[in-house]
Amino acid sequence: MEMTEISFIKGFIRMADDGWKRGWHERNGGNLSYRMKDEDVAAARPFFKKNETWTDIGTSVPGLGGEFFLVTGSGKYFRNVSLNPEDSIAVIELDEKGERYRILWGFEGGGRPTSELPSHLMNHEVKKRVTDGKYRVIYHAHTTNVIALTFVLPLSDEVFTRELWEMATECPVVFPSGIGVVPWMVPGGRDIAVATSKLMEKYDVAVWAHHGLFAAGEDFDLTFGLMHTVEKSAEILVKVLSITPHKLQTIKPDDFRSLAKDFNVTLPERFLYEK
Ligand code: 13P
Ligand code: ZN
Repeated sequence: MEMTEISFIKGFIRMADDGWKRGWHERNGGNLSYRMKDEDVAAARPFFKKNETWTDIGTSVPGLGGEFFLVTGSGKYFRNVSLNPEDSIAVIELDEKGERYRILWGFEGGGRPTSELPSHLMNHEVKKRVTDGKYRVIYHAHTTNVIALTFVLPLSDEVFTRELWEMATECPVVFPSGIGVVPWMVPGGRDIAVATSKLMEKYDVAVWAHHGLFAAGEDFDLTFGLMHTVEKSAEILVKVLSITPHKLQTIKPDDFRSLAKDFNVTLPERFLYEK
């Protein structure tokens, strides 16, 4: 068996390719990371190379010390992941303190993990804690319609959540806890990572104003599906706002309350404000 035939690698490659096909990954835009299970590490270990070179992560994630991740590379194109996974993605191991990483497989032509590694790892650390280890995927995409909305909607969690919930009936069921919004910040560093990971304490989705979206989930299907659902809802809202500034009818707060009861989800009342 080849490394690229192992099932978690295949799932990762397929997800990257699906994102590319949706048009969310121009040039090197976007990044993806997966927190490996023990069985993934065992299957991949025969392919690991020896590497004693440790590099600073740029932040500290003690809750992830000693864990292994599959990540996309900085400056690498999602378009190339399925064609040349050995160069586009890599397995990294964190040291016991969660302060440094080393590359064990991948980036064949040279390279390093995504510049958003601090955000990915800080989000993983939060999600691992609040989901008892269930969540394993963090995904950042340059979703066109969500980005467009960050120029015209107030940058508040309440407005983004409510407006996107209204655009498709399944939205409150897919992201019942809502959506967080990070105002415009310089990408690629610890500050934006801290701001995003704070939102990940209560949400699975965080908007980066004028930049894109972060989504977190249990596996590749759920995380890609979440990104897709939010972006599709944003596309509908862009179309509605392009037709008219006033909706003639919509889903109302009491409709959401009925939906919550029947679908067995809790929708925080702060999103069900009267307009
Ligand atoms: P990387 O190529 O470093 O992953 O950066 C792409 C990106 O989307 C930055 O936010
Ligand atoms: Zn980006």
